[in-house]
Amino acid sequence: MTPIPLLDLKAQLVSYRADALEAMTRVMDSQELILGPETERFEAALATYAGVSHAVGMSSGTDALLAALMALDIGPGDEVVTSTFSFFATAGVVARLGACPVFVDIDPQTYNVTEAGLRSAISPKTRALIPVHLFGQLADIGALAAPDSPWTVVEDSAQSLGGRLRGGMNGHHGRMATVSFFPSKNLGGFGDGGAVLTNDAALAERLAVVRAHGSKPKYLHHMVGGNFRLDALQAAVLAVKLPHLDAWAEGRRSNAARYDALFAGSGLTERGLVTLPVVGPDVHHVYNQYVLRVEDRDALQKHLTAQGIGTAVYYPLPLHLQPCFRALGHGPGDFPHAERAAAQVLALPIYPELPEGAQAQVVAAVRGFYGV
Ligand SMILES: Cc1ncc(COP(=O)(O)O)c(C=O)c1O
Repeated sequence: MTPIPLLDLKAQLVSYRADALEAMTRVMDSQELILGPETERFEAALATYAGVSHAVGMSSGTDALLAALMALDIGPGDEVVTSTFSFFATAGVVARLGACPVFVDIDPQTYNVTEAGLRSAISPKTRALIPVHLFGQLADIGALAAPDSPWTVVEDSAQSLGGRLRGGMNGHHGRMATVSFFPSKNLGGFGDGGAVLTNDAALAERLAVVRAHGSKPKYLHHMVGGNFRLDALQAAVLAVKLPHLDAWAEGRRSNAARYDALFAGSGLTERGLVTLPVVGPDVHHVYNQYVLRVEDRDALQKHLTAQGIGTAVYYPLPLHLQPCFRALGHGPGDFPHAERAAAQVLALPIYPELPEGAQAQVVAAVRGFYGV
């Protein structure tokens, strides 16, 4: 049987290799290696793509989140409400600033936070909400981003660039949206990278200062920032890849539809052995991950690995149960939907260049495991 990796970045490279080589050569010859015209060009293209007025390049999705909170002056005594079912960075940045992450449970169908869930955790100390658009699907936070709110909404869009909710892309549902260009993301660089999207010109200006040690002009520091700059090489490669993003997302979407159809006819869903991803109303899902919910997840993953099929668990332990957050006083049972998801989710290969027949092979292997 042909092995099927979870992700095959080499299969994608063929579609833009020559352009990337040309772009990297241009940067090499210019020797303008950090920020500069390449980064500015990419930022302008990204802002246009997302339909926002500003995109500020950052050194990673984590640093984009950190810079967003620093731009809001979030620190000790402040609370930031977010999902307990996310990548560590979402809450890590809050704690790094001395603020308190306040976790909420997820909707068990979409794995995203809900308006009601976030609302229930808001206190007079709440300075920001970070809804996470998990797996490529935007979270619906309803009216929580109203401009007169005492908190600021920062969308964690690391996994969902190009996704839409009610027609609005990332950056349209909060005052800022942070993006990651980690290589496995839908728009991945040749290393780490990230960005903050916003329609707020003053915030964009502040983010640019935050990413350069808080200095403006150079060597004059009115605030403490960090080194969160996007490299010119990353920007040049990302600018080459950005025009492909929608076509790649379409590839993921049609692969998701094919999985849905293959599983629906397999007997697995009818028997409740496998639950397929659920797409919320008016959502354009871009499937950074295609995530099943199954019983006996770890054994199924082992079985698929033995058959050469790559899978992943995003995420095996919710944030409220992480040892580093023990002081928050949470225990098992506090957020049951997230805890159940952590025990049951399994991401399958969904990358746009999946070879013909690979998905039927994956579904057959899952059927083999359950004897269906
Ligand atoms: C939901 C979420 N938030 C934040 C990040 C952090 O992004 P990066 O890895 O670029 O620092 C990631 C990436 O893994 C993520 O998936």
